[in-house]
Amino acid sequence: MQKKVFIRTFGCQMNEYDSARMLDLLEAESGYARAESPEDADLILLNTCSVREKAQEKVFSDLGRIRKLKNARPGLLIGVSGCVASQEGETIIRRAPYVNLVFGPQTFHRLPAMIKAYERTGSPQVDISFPEIEKFDHLPPAKVEVPVASVTIMEGCSHFCSYCIVPYTRGKEISRPLEDILVEIAGLADQGVKEILLLGQNVNAWRGIMDGGEKADFALLVEYIADIPGIERIRFVTSHPTEFSHRLIEAYSRVPKLVSHLYLPAQHGSDRILAAMKRGYTTLEYKSIIRRLKAIRPDLLVSSDFIVGFPGETDADFEAMMRFIDEIGFDNSFSFLYSPRPGTPAAALPMDIPLDVRKERLQRLQAKIDEHTRRYNAALVDTTQRVLIEGRSQKNPGQFQGKTGSNRVVHITVKDTSPVAIGDFADIYITDATNYALRGIPAADRIVA
Ligand code: SAH
Ligand code: SF4
Ligand code: F3S
Repeated sequence: MQKKVFIRTFGCQMNEYDSARMLDLLEAESGYARAESPEDADLILLNTCSVREKAQEKVFSDLGRIRKLKNARPGLLIGVSGCVASQEGETIIRRAPYVNLVFGPQTFHRLPAMIKAYERTGSPQVDISFPEIEKFDHLPPAKVEVPVASVTIMEGCSHFCSYCIVPYTRGKEISRPLEDILVEIAGLADQGVKEILLLGQNVNAWRGIMDGGEKADFALLVEYIADIPGIERIRFVTSHPTEFSHRLIEAYSRVPKLVSHLYLPAQHGSDRILAAMKRGYTTLEYKSIIRRLKAIRPDLLVSSDFIVGFPGETDADFEAMMRFIDEIGFDNSFSFLYSPRPGTPAAALPMDIPLDVRKERLQRLQAKIDEHTRRYNAALVDTTQRVLIEGRSQKNPGQFQGKTGSNRVVHITVKDTSPVAIGDFADIYITDATNYALRGIPAADRIVA
């Protein structure tokens, strides 16, 4: 019988992407099929995240549960990959001796060989090395099911913000070659992909060597991608303010396919805290980027990540962050309580803010951002939006679901005769808005004879 694999993913979009590629690889090279549940699987992989303590702890509680499955079925293989694996390596096997495979984000292409080695020797396999960019040359072409596809263009981070574990788990910044990226995206476009999400921990720091030996920057890459027939929308995550060059800002006027929605994590709104975080910019510099972008794209919406309760954050710092959020008018954003990560410089700072104060600040910040998001959503009611139809609505299979350029999910009620097809763009009239999504009907259905 065909073996089955179940992959559970924690963490960021790059981890989601890596999990999808692991599945492609196991199907193509090891003869595995996808399992619907852990109970149904011969191999369970946990693709882990260590960005905050909570994420890391989830892994070990999950492993505890999986151990029971393994007791009942000793042949079950268990693997741990991703950022916790990268950081902990052998320690995972010491803490959970029933784990068979441990591998990092840069070595998952070796998974088929590691499985074979385990089957041959019966001993746990650990490989958390950083073999530069060889991974991408060893992965089968991505399988495409929706008109939106992610493509990793660079990986790792060389910023070393004082609180962050990512540079240690993903390694230093490494960019994929320009031509490899363009060939991959052209292949995706041939399969019907219309929207590309470029992935990197610090995506706009991408640099590629061109044929003649000259270096291309992220702005040029975006222009080349926009020239690929079939690609209609380009997004990118996560970008960094210190790499947001004048050339990239100008690309917004030359490349209409760049969406008017930018995810540019600010992390804080107090210059004192930004300096302690070692972010490398001030609020004034951040505001200047957004001001210049909005001069080109008045409709641009900006989302961010925010960290609340960094050591030393005073009431005044927090209020500065709240004002900053209003000044930029941030759209839907992610916000987190600061979590000390072992081995990072900030972990040595005293946790000097009481938990209830931190929690209250987080709530206030989230309420403010929700208010902004609701306002932006409400402003779209009674307008017509260009929506990329991604599939049937998850909640209601009678409806379609798609996204606007401004990254809003739209649930679309259709008639049998509606000119709406999965994978196409459609003009959708927005009828109402909830906190997190919009509802609409095909604009063509409004025209009553
Ligand atoms: N490269 C991206 C962030 C990747 S980590 C950037 O620089 O913006 C994703 C998010 O997790 C970060 O944006 C930050 O908001 C959050 N984060 C990172 N380390 C954290 C920590 N120690 N505690 C709480 N949140 C953290
Ligand atoms: Fe972490 Fe800073 Fe790098 Fe983002 S830029 S991944 S927050 S070190
Ligand atoms: Fe987490 Fe690693 Fe992504 S720490 S956020 S999975 S880069």
